[in-house]
Amino acid sequence: MGIVINYCENYEEMSWQAAEIVAGEIKSKENFVLGLPTGSTPLGMYENLIEMNKSGKTDFSKITTFNLDEYYPIKRDNSQSYYKFMFDNFFGKININPENINIPDGEATDAKIECGTYDQKINHAGGIDLMVIGIGPNGHIGFNEPGNFLLPNTHVAVLTEETKEANKRFFDSVNEVPDRALTMGMGSIIAKSKKILMLVSGKSKANAFRQFLEGKITSGNPATFLYLHNNIIVLSDIEI
Ligand code: GLP
Repeated sequence: MGIVINYCENYEEMSWQAAEIVAGEIKSKENFVLGLPTGSTPLGMYENLIEMNKSGKTDFSKITTFNLDEYYPIKRDNSQSYYKFMFDNFFGKININPENINIPDGEATDAKIECGTYDQKINHAGGIDLMVIGIGPNGHIGFNEPGNFLLPNTHVAVLTEETKEANKRFFDSVNEVPDRALTMGMGSIIAKSKKILMLVSGKSKANAFRQFLEGKITSGNPATFLYLHNNIIVLSDIEI
């Protein structure tokens, strides 16, 4: 218990270990509830999990998923929506029941109501058994950006210029990156997840990860709030 940090040789090793952890956890419980991130970091984990599903090693038919975040506003069929990302890279390739997939709705007419409903859905599912997250270059988790304060529950977040810059590689230009997003808050992540798996990949995360390792909780680096949880595994392909 507490925080376990595991350094991996490279991205492939990290992705394999992450998939093994997820697959092992899913097997341990009926109707498992899994929290999932987007970004380039988890892609290798998703590829491994897809293979495990194809080979019959891992069954996703009974799991329920909750995604961490989504741009707002954004159409589901927009090539950059996290909805599309998840179906293209994972959900569309495994035997999950589409009814059990939950992603904050970028098409919702009332973003605030959507955020409240999302937290209720997580509660109704009995919380999240394992929440997988990545980390942004500035320490953001989901779209919980560094600042003077953090909002605890699922909320509408305004993206920082830094995050828009980091995410622009997926869009035609930085101007196309939506200004806002719906994101689980650090409070929802910590209070509603029984276990958290954080993946740290690539040199661009070194500063944020170094600060995280100092162990001081600060809203200047949202990832540090994970120290308030007592069951965290960190897999990193960069050694600090
Ligand atoms: C985005 C997502 C985060 C993710 C981060 C890092 O901003 N909202 O949930 O952790 O990017 O992405 P990457 O893994 O591509 O570095």
